[in-house]
This record gives sequence, structure tokens and C-alpha cells, in this order.
Amino acid sequence: MEERVCVTGAGGFIASWVVKGVHDNQNFYCVSPLQRLHRKHDRLNKFENASENLKLFEADLLDYDSLRAAIEGCTGVLHVASPVPSSSIQNPEIELLDPAVTGTLNVLKACCEAKVKRVVYVSSISAIVMNPMWPKKRVKDETCWLDKEYCITTKNWYGLSKREAESGAVKLVNENGLDKVSICPALVFGPFLQPTVNASSLVLVKLIEGTYMRLVDDGNDSMPNKLRNIVDVRDVAAAVFLGYENPEAEERYICTAHAIKTCDLVVKLRSLYPNYSYPQNVVQMLHLELNLCDSLHGL
Ligand SMILES: NC(=O)c1ccc[n+]([C@@H]2O[C@H](COP(=O)([O-])OP(=O)(O)OC[C@H]3O[C@@H](n4cnc5c(N)ncnc54)[C@H](OP(=O)(O)O)[C@@H]3O)[C@@H](O)[C@H]2O)c1
Repeated sequence: MEERVCVTGAGGFIASWVVKGVHDNQNFYCVSPLQRLHRKHDRLNKFENASENLKLFEADLLDYDSLRAAIEGCTGVLHVASPVPSSSIQNPEIELLDPAVTGTLNVLKACCEAKVKRVVYVSSISAIVMNPMWPKKRVKDETCWLDKEYCITTKNWYGLSKREAESGAVKLVNENGLDKVSICPALVFGPFLQPTVNASSLVLVKLIEGTYMRLVDDGNDSMPNKLRNIVDVRDVAAAVFLGYENPEAEERYICTAHAIKTCDLVVKLRSLYPNYSYPQNVVQMLHLELNLCDSLHGL
């Protein structure tokens, strides 16, 4: 029997590649991408055989009935949608936490009702790394969870939204016996299929423009030389499929490929695109953030 898979947030950076991947396996899947707006549909409809294999639903994560309608009849759900802010936010509860947490619970409840066989949920290493209680010499792995109090103190609202959504999801699937796998990507770069610049790609744009800066103690703007864990968007899409198709997959998987300091990223960008105004001043990151990311190196 033909399988039907629903991809949430199909207009986004990662989900566009997931939809494309689902589509490239068209003997096996049809897709029901969820989007709030139809403005990005044209691009999805241009995939080969889209008219037969692709059915688009307009849905909001906070509108349960719209999700329920899209998920009905699906064997699997690849839940990618969640707000990813590209600038500071005014109201974390409304702009981030509610859509991420309630939205994820809505998707999973709809999956239970529709008797979906497996859900792959795209979480983030943001739901993992920031944990000052983690033993210093122990390499971080999938058993580590971001520390909620630390996040509130440091106003890391995005990390908190991903942590709360993922831990809420774990509770719901345990209570309802739903089969769920989480993929936790590092910072995702790669080619766009979508027409707009998403938040992680904006990091590269800001480096090229020389605007990726932070005011430091001496009053100057400087580029923080963070260690970044990065992964290609196509590898994230592949990881989502592995999570979906491999019956042995379970719980959560960190999805990362390289660790690179921001300065080395600038060297690479400058060699590819020399005619831009890259940041001049650099500040080394010696605090917790770097140490925590360091411990992910090599995973
Ligand atoms: N990019 C990264 O570096 C990275 C790393 C780790 C994890 N992730 C996770 O990967 C997922 C996708 O991120 P991305 O980088 O592809 O970002 P993106 O391009 O901004 O995609 C996010 C998608 O979520 C949708 N969305 C947000 N709020 C929604 C709501 N209330 N109802 C329905 N859809 C909603 C957006 O729809 P609209 O287009 O209509 O706003 C968009 O399609 C997110 O869960 C993110 O946390 C991303």
C-alpha cells in the first residue's frame, strides 16, 4: 500500500529539503505539507509529479483541527515546523514557546488520533547543550538536556522552546505509546529551496556583511569567535528519513558534521567571496558556551 507522509512547516529551509526528499522517493510516499500561507506553494508544486503526489494543506500549529485534517490517513509525520527567530523577540511566550510547545503537542495528539505509525520530530542541539550541571570531562550525548533554569537566566528563549517542546513530546508519546524519533541538528547551513533567508543562513549573511557583532566590555563591536557545530541541510533531511525508515531508530539523535570556529568560517567565506566587508575585531569566547560546544566535537 502506498504510504502517505505529512511534513509540517513545508515552506521552511529544512522542511523544503525534507519534502523534496520525500518526493524523490515518490514510489513510496505522498506528502501533505502544512503551511500557514500559500505564498510558498508554487515552488513545491514544481517538483516532478507534484500534481499526483503532493497534496498541500494550510495549517497552523495552534489550530488543532487544521492539523488533524492534514494528518488524517497518513502513515508517518515528519514534524519540522517551529518558530526560529532571526532577531530578538518581545514576547517569548506568544512568539516562541506557545507555538513550539503547544504546537508540537497538537501535532502529536493528532498523530495519536489518526493512528500514525511513526513520527520524526526535528528538535535541536539547542535542546541539549546548555547544561552547566553536566560533568566537565564527560562528552555530551543524547542523554543531556538543556538546563531550564540556566536558559531562563540567560534568556535563551529559542533553546527553552525546543527543550520544552521535546520534553513535552517525550511525555506525550510515553503516555500514548506513539512511536517517535527525535533528530537534533546542530547549526544548519546549505542551499536554499525556499525564497526567503531563514535564521541560520542569516548567520552567514551577517558574517559576509560584517554585521555579526556583539558589543564587548571595551565598548567596541567585536565578532564572537564561537565554536560552531554545523551540518548540511541535505544531511539533516537524510537523517530525518533514516529516523523514519529505520525500524531500530528510537528516542533522539544528535545530527552534526563539523565543528568550526567563527574566525575559520570567515576565512572560508572570504576565500569564496573576497569582496565583502568581513568583521575586523574578534573576541574569544572563553565562557560556558564554548566549553559546552567543545564537548560535542567529534560526535
Ligand atoms: N536551521 C537550523 O540551524 C536548525 C538547527 C536545529 C534545529 N532546527 C529546527 O528545524 C526546524 C526548521 O527550522 P528551519 O531552519 O527550517 O527554519 P524556518 O525556515 O524558519 O522554518 C520553520 C517553519 O516552521 C513554520 N512555522 C513556524 N511557526 C508555525 C506555526 N505556528 N504554524 C505552522 N507553521 C509554523 C514556518 O512557517 P512560515 O514559513 O509560515 O512562518 C516555517 O515553515 C525547526 O523546528 C528548528 O527549531 C533548525
